[in-house]
Amino acid sequence: MPTPTKQTLGWIGTGRMGYAMAERLAKGGCDLAVWNRTRAKAEPLAKHGAKVANQLEELSTKDILFVMVSTYEDVKEVIGKALSKGKPKLVVECSSISLEGSAELRTTLDAKGIEYLAAPVSGNAKVIKAGKLTFVVSGPKAAYDMARPYLDMMGTGSSYVGEGELARIAKICHNVMLGVVIQNLCEITILAQKAGMPRHAFLEFLNKSVMGSMFTRYKTPALVNLDFHVTFTPKLLRKDLDLGLDAGRNLEVPMPTTSLTRDLLQQMIGQGMTEQDFSTLILAQAKASGIELEPEGVAVGDGLSS
Ligand SMILES: NC(=O)c1ccc[n+]([C@@H]2O[C@H](COP(=O)([O-])OP(=O)(O)OC[C@H]3O[C@@H](n4cnc5c(N)ncnc54)[C@H](OP(=O)(O)O)[C@@H]3O)[C@@H](O)[C@H]2O)c1
Repeated sequence: MPTPTKQTLGWIGTGRMGYAMAERLAKGGCDLAVWNRTRAKAEPLAKHGAKVANQLEELSTKDILFVMVSTYEDVKEVIGKALSKGKPKLVVECSSISLEGSAELRTTLDAKGIEYLAAPVSGNAKVIKAGKLTFVVSGPKAAYDMARPYLDMMGTGSSYVGEGELARIAKICHNVMLGVVIQNLCEITILAQKAGMPRHAFLEFLNKSVMGSMFTRYKTPALVNLDFHVTFTPKLLRKDLDLGLDAGRNLEVPMPTTSLTRDLLQQMIGQGMTEQDFSTLILAQAKASGIELEPEGVAVGDGLSS
């Protein structure tokens, strides 16, 4: 792990992702101040040495300000407040937001003389804890070099893809794949079960095969034992599929599997299935296939825990 440098860090947003990311910086010994709208969610970070700010404005003079909230509207709101009393050298925005939102933010920050990196991530909170988070980053190369030691502390590293908002399109493509893959994984798991196979046996085979991935492995406990503790909500996934479809429209790229997946997800959301993990798509798939699912109660690994 790289040695922390002397930059002071501010962190906005300690939800599922932001908390786990900030925790790695705090545990790594960084000079870190955190703020979350719901303060109680940030407070446990104090035991790792982070300062928990009462006011967002307290973060405005940190060297590097990280943001991990939900949508672009939320990003705009928190950045607007944070910059009302001062300015950091660099803002690193990690939420999954649109190209257009990211470009607007860059214009706002440029006008204030603040460097900006678009730095969305791949992984969920458990992936972060396992040290396997990755970033895709775009913006000025010198700013990337400044942020890189901290990005490295939060996971297995980052991919710098160039100037401007290129990282946003890379992340949108990534999450479109996430949606399409989970839908298909649910379809084939239900197909295998309806043919007479236990889900755990089918997924064990799949995970060992050339089609298995870190993702199929870490979703296996949810699909086998129906543990739908939220890692990522259906609505956040819908937001990303919509971002992908918008980008496809703008660039005139047909995205048929994405359109279909978006509608299937929408059906599930319309039925009120919004509060659990997005892998509840398997429940919708089972219902559409005329079967009732029961947890299998089999201990299966997620490929992350040692
Ligand atoms: N979960 C995943 O697997 C995953 C993976 C990759 C990327 N992402 C992306 O990462 C971002 C965060 O996801 P998450 O799963 O961590 O979501 P989350 O648990 O719902 O956390 C959202 C965070 O944003 C804050 N927030 C939202 N709106 C706000 C506003 N208007 N003002 C101030 N704070 C606001 C929330 O504050 P409160 O605590 O007060 O509500 C919370 O800290 C999203 O853009 C998501 O698409 C998620």
